[in-house]
Amino acid sequence: MTLLEVDHLSLDLPVDREPRRIIHDVTLELDDGEAVGLVGESGAGKSMTSRAVIRLLPQNARIGGDIVFDGRSVLAMDRRLLATYRSRDVAMIFQDPKSHINPVRTVGAFLIEALVERGDRRADALAVVSELLDTVGIREIPHRLRQYPHELSGGMLQRVMIAAALAVQPRLLLADEPTTALDVTTQANVMAHLDVQRRNRGLAMLFVTHDLELAASVCDRIAVMYAGCLVEVCAASSIHDRVLHPYTAGLLASRPRVTSRTARLPVIPGRPQAAYELGEGCPFLSRCPYALDICRTTRPELRVVGSSRVACHRAEELSGCLTDGRAADRPGVHA
Ligand SMILES: Nc1ncnc2c1ncn2[C@@H]1O[C@H](COP(=O)(O)OP(=O)(O)OP(=O)(O)O)[C@@H](O)[C@H]1O
Ligand code: SF4
Ligand SMILES: [Mg+2]
Repeated sequence: MTLLEVDHLSLDLPVDREPRRIIHDVTLELDDGEAVGLVGESGAGKSMTSRAVIRLLPQNARIGGDIVFDGRSVLAMDRRLLATYRSRDVAMIFQDPKSHINPVRTVGAFLIEALVERGDRRADALAVVSELLDTVGIREIPHRLRQYPHELSGGMLQRVMIAAALAVQPRLLLADEPTTALDVTTQANVMAHLDVQRRNRGLAMLFVTHDLELAASVCDRIAVMYAGCLVEVCAASSIHDRVLHPYTAGLLASRPRVTSRTARLPVIPGRPQAAYELGEGCPFLSRCPYALDICRTTRPELRVVGSSRVACHRAEELSGCLTDGRAADRPGVHA
């Protein structure tokens, strides 16, 4: 069953009082219990898309299209409905926990706040969060609950953030780069806890990350964003052998590999475009070695190709030569 529909979402933010396009016509669905990885380079619009889902956008943001959760328009919700939606249906894990946890309240007060506000007894709320802290790998829980955020390490705080998000038993988890601020070992650990908890509880998740392979390992589907546009949506299981967009192939090839003997990592040539810089043609035009005349004049729509959706005029032709993201000498990726 479809839980979330991002329906032709567009977003403008004012810069020097002029509206600047940040997201172009993004359409994406999530089913109940499904995990979708929203992947792309910095500035692609991943955070703004996930923030739009919880309607947590900068003031003066101008939104087009709709966000529909369980049949209800999030954009049309009044304050009361929005507060209920945010406290029961959806929870967000932010990349930087420090800036989203009140520094002058204890970890315990932060964790039970939402539960008490919705009517749980304090003792019950404490029992729920204590159990959750245990499942995300935190020990000496009574002591941790009495501590202040600055007394906890980054990894510990991120686990607290995950516990806070899970405590309200949302149906949808928005996880915006939940582990990028952490060291590699803690990253793997926190990610594993999050993955197990999400699966055990049957939660849907929008997982925002730069890391395509990490997303493929914990998600059912992958949605690739470039310059505020969705360029490919496919099954995570097909990411290595049925890539259809040159940008997705470039992302795969530019990831470090333990088995690789090449001294330098392949990179996608050129610089990422900003959403507001796009002309009439394909967003990826300036970096794509396969561009034709039509790519300069007509923006490709996201359309169904096989079991994926892809925004490339040449998707069918290119599917054969973009099949293996691991080949360093693939056309379109310069070492
Ligand atoms: N308050 C703002 N006003 C104007 N532009 C903004 C604002 N916040 C973000 N942007 C711009 O919106 C675009 C998309 O930002 P967003 O944070 O969604 O990118 P992202 O894909 O999450 O990148 P990253 O991987 O670095 O987190 C960027 O070009 C960014 O500069
Ligand atoms: S539409 Fe053209 S420019 Fe865009 S990715 Fe496809 S081939 Fe490249
Ligand atoms: Mg971001």
